[in-house]
Amino acid sequence: MMSKKPASRFSLRKLVRNWISLAGAVIAAGSFFAFLLLFSIEMFSQHGNPYMGILAYLVAPSFLLAGLVLVLLGYWLHLRQERLAMDDAPPVALTIDFSRPRDRKILGVFIAGSVVFLFMTAVGSYQTYQFTESVHFCGKSCHLPMDPEFVTSQHSAHARVECVACHVGSGASAYVKTKISGMRQLYHVTMGDFQRPIRLDSTKLRPARETCEQCHWPQKFTGGFERTFRHYLSDEANTPFSVRLLLNVGGGDRKSGPVGGIHWHMNLANKIEYIATDDEQRDIPWVRHTDEKGVVTEYRNPDFKGDLSKYPVHKMDCIDCHNRPAHNFLSPNEAVDISLACGRLDPSIPWVKSKVVAALAAPYSTREEALKKIDESLRAAYPDNPKVGEIVAEAQSIYNANFFPEMKADWRSYPNHLSHKNWEGCFRCHDGKHKTTDGTGSIKANDCKSCHLILAQGNDAEIKKLNSDGYDFVHIDAEYSDFSCAECHTGAAPKE
Ligand code: HEC
Ligand code: HEC
Ligand code: HEC
Ligand code: HEC
Ligand code: HEC
Ligand code: HEC
Repeated sequence: MMSKKPASRFSLRKLVRNWISLAGAVIAAGSFFAFLLLFSIEMFSQHGNPYMGILAYLVAPSFLLAGLVLVLLGYWLHLRQERLAMDDAPPVALTIDFSRPRDRKILGVFIAGSVVFLFMTAVGSYQTYQFTESVHFCGKSCHLPMDPEFVTSQHSAHARVECVACHVGSGASAYVKTKISGMRQLYHVTMGDFQRPIRLDSTKLRPARETCEQCHWPQKFTGGFERTFRHYLSDEANTPFSVRLLLNVGGGDRKSGPVGGIHWHMNLANKIEYIATDDEQRDIPWVRHTDEKGVVTEYRNPDFKGDLSKYPVHKMDCIDCHNRPAHNFLSPNEAVDISLACGRLDPSIPWVKSKVVAALAAPYSTREEALKKIDESLRAAYPDNPKVGEIVAEAQSIYNANFFPEMKADWRSYPNHLSHKNWEGCFRCHDGKHKTTDGTGSIKANDCKSCHLILAQGNDAEIKKLNSDGYDFVHIDAEYSDFSCAECHTGAAPKE
């Protein structure tokens, strides 16, 4: 009786001796192998990579599962065929029978095929890894959403730095989180429902310790750092007006140099924390400084009447000043000044500064529309100028590098905190308004000489006359009332 129902008992031999199960087993083994490989690449690579996570933890296991399902399916079909077949009937086609030469031959081919398959899986996994690490993958694969960041990063000092070095970083702490967010991003890109402009929740950006500080040493003493800002006024002559600054970058580590200056906020001896009431950290009503002896000083802007306990406390790091190290969307004013200074636009063309700035700053909804209207407006402005073709070409090239209307990405959507001219930047805290709780002290470094000296300023002749004590700022002939430069300077034509 029992011998008539052999199928009811599990047998490893039957599990393996049918083609479907065997194929399933090879797929399962291949994907398990791929998983192990991807997993170890991930473990030993310098930076994690969210897309590798998708491969390692989603794609490879799905194939593994599919392989196992095939194994069971083969087993089940095998049992069914065995049940259908009479006891004395010849072995069913699905079953492998080594007494048949045909089956032996197929098995030989099968084994050879499996070896090749496993080898290809290994090579394939490694190549996929290399590809997902590349700047090209991050910047170009999801084309539209990442295009603004890809293009701007290619014009930055970090053009050769991989996206993942800043966005994923090293260390295992946020590992799983990054994987999940990578999958979520992939979903939103596929569905086309991503936000425009894209905003990173910078509280979720990895701390500088795990990104910037893998390459930059926070203890470095920089000391003075000289920069010349070349500008041209919006008058008929495009009058040059430059400012030559000696920035007191200094340093924050006593072993490397005197502690002080702009890089004093390195969180080495001091810790600075703050509360921002908006996502872009533009409004900072509260700041807390803990010095090396543990003395805590709190500063508050008395104009802020809201409830501070609603907001998270951030610890200040590199990205609070260098928030655009790779994606600096130049304002029309900055970009046109650079073109004029480099001779790509000719400063002898009357009104060229203001005309090109106006053409760039106008609102456009697509790139096609923008390039067409820039061309039309500049040709209308210079109907008889033989150089009009060059002007249009330069204006369009500035547009292509810094404006992404389909993603609503340009200088208007992404403030740069490193300065204080077009956005509050340093003046978010150093505006003289933040007071200690007893109302007596305020954050120091709120006069024009604590962060930089103006070595020279003015037109091409004046900019050569250096003053090592620093000039007082002479603001052309326009009056400026107080600290806030950003009240008038918006990145396009300034308000009078
Ligand atoms: C040197 C470090 C660095 C590199 C390299 C880098 N980024 Fe960024 N990226 C940042 C920082 C910092 C921010 C956040 C700015 C903020 O929140 O104010 C950012 C923001 C973004 C944003 C959000 C939109 C925005 O502009 O704020 C996207 C998308 C992005 N990066 C994509 C990329 C891509 C794609 C690459 C590679 C082509 C890349 N990044 C390379 C540092 C970097
Ligand atoms: C993978 C290494 C790497 C990482 C990560 C990195 N940087 Fe850099 N950074 C560089 C290199 C290399 C340069 C110098 C480029 C040159 O001078 O050609 C540089 C230059 C700079 C400069 C000078 C810029 C200039 O215009 O001259 C600043 C500021 C800076 N990095 C800030 C940052 C910040 C902030 C982060 C983190 C968000 C960061 N870096 C992450 C490698 C890195
Ligand atoms: C308080 C604002 C602030 C913070 C915080 C800050 N920086 Fe800077 N950093 C500046 C300014 C301003 C300059 C002046 C040069 C410039 O305009 O690029 C500068 C210059 C630099 C330079 C170019 C000079 C040099 O030494 O080569 C690098 C690189 C740099 N910073 C990296 C960093 C890194 C890395 C961090 C975080 C560990 C950091 N900075 C934190 C404001 C800041
Ligand atoms: C989140 C608030 C905040 C921001 C933003 C900020 N700082 Fe500061 N900074 C402070 C605090 C707090 C101190 C310490 C004030 C004190 O001791 O009275 C300080 C001190 C300084 C000092 C004096 C250091 C010394 O030698 O003792 C300089 C210089 C300075 N900051 C420059 C800058 C520059 C430049 C920027 C913009 C690129 C900037 N800060 C942005 C909060 C900030
Ligand atoms: C808290 C530090 C700090 C204080 C205070 C400060 N500045 Fe600046 N200033 C900066 C930094 C940082 C930059 C930009 C450096 C950069 O972009 O590399 C800058 C840039 C400038 C520039 C050049 C801007 C450009 O784009 O041409 C001028 C001019 C200037 N400051 C004038 C002033 C005047 C006038 C005052 C006093 C009312 C003042 N600053 C106070 C930190 C400061
Ligand atoms: C009351 C409005 C107002 C304030 C406040 C103001 N500016 Fe200006 N600024 C102007 C105007 C108007 C011009 C002339 C612009 C032109 O001809 O293109 C100008 C021109 C400049 C220029 C040269 C041209 C250019 O486009 O860059 C610089 C540099 C400058 N200002 C820096 C500053 C700084 C730094 C501060 C803050 C310390 C400041 N300004 C505050 C209105 C202002």
